Amino acid sequence: MREMVLTEEQIYSACERIGDRITEDLRNDERIPVLIGVMKGGVPFMMDLIKYINIPIMMDFIQVSSYSGTSRSREIKLVKDLTYDIEGRTIILVDDVVDSGHSLLYLVNHIYEHYKPKKILTCALFDKVNAREADIKVDYCGKILNENKFLCGYGLDYYEVYRNVPYVFVPDTEELGEIENYLRFKKE
Ligand code: IMP
Ligand code: MG
Repeated sequence: MREMVLTEEQIYSACERIGDRITEDLRNDERIPVLIGVMKGGVPFMMDLIKYINIPIMMDFIQVSSYSGTSRSREIKLVKDLTYDIEGRTIILVDDVVDSGHSLLYLVNHIYEHYKPKKILTCALFDKVNAREADIKVDYCGKILNENKFLCGYGLDYYEVYRNVPYVFVPDTEELGEIENYLRFKKE
């Protein structure tokens, strides 16, 4: 049985709450702020969140990949960079979940290093607060998770599967086994 973590209704109310706050916080910025979606997991959340922001915004996307190294360290690589100059603008990085925080910290550092944003704010549907290793905080959070659950749906994947499910859930082991077999035998 799937364990429900956030229903569609709960996702929309989180988007409304965060959208209202972003609207208030950035209403007086001189330059139009830019929401940057972290591909691929952050895309469904960003697409719903923007509907609840009632000031002009711009959008862009960025993508990293992360590999487990031989030690506990991880190598993070930039796969897709921004497409235009964001100098002087407030940036909000929008991701699905912040776990160890290494990916988000890498992105914040990358953007400060190569662009000249006014400031960078962070937004995630989930904040796994007890898994944090990197020194990074989530400014706008949909739901704080104290337990380390493996989430799927609404952008969150298991070997790229489940991103299209409209709610967030914890799959059971039987279901994960079926997906693994499917990927192995169908050679997708
Ligand atoms: P971090 O660098 O450890 O914070 O990892 C963040 C990234 O790992 C997220 O953007 C997700 O792509 C992925 N991730 C972390 N936790 C989960 C999960 O529970 N389900 C699916 N993907 C996850
Ligand atoms: Mg992600």
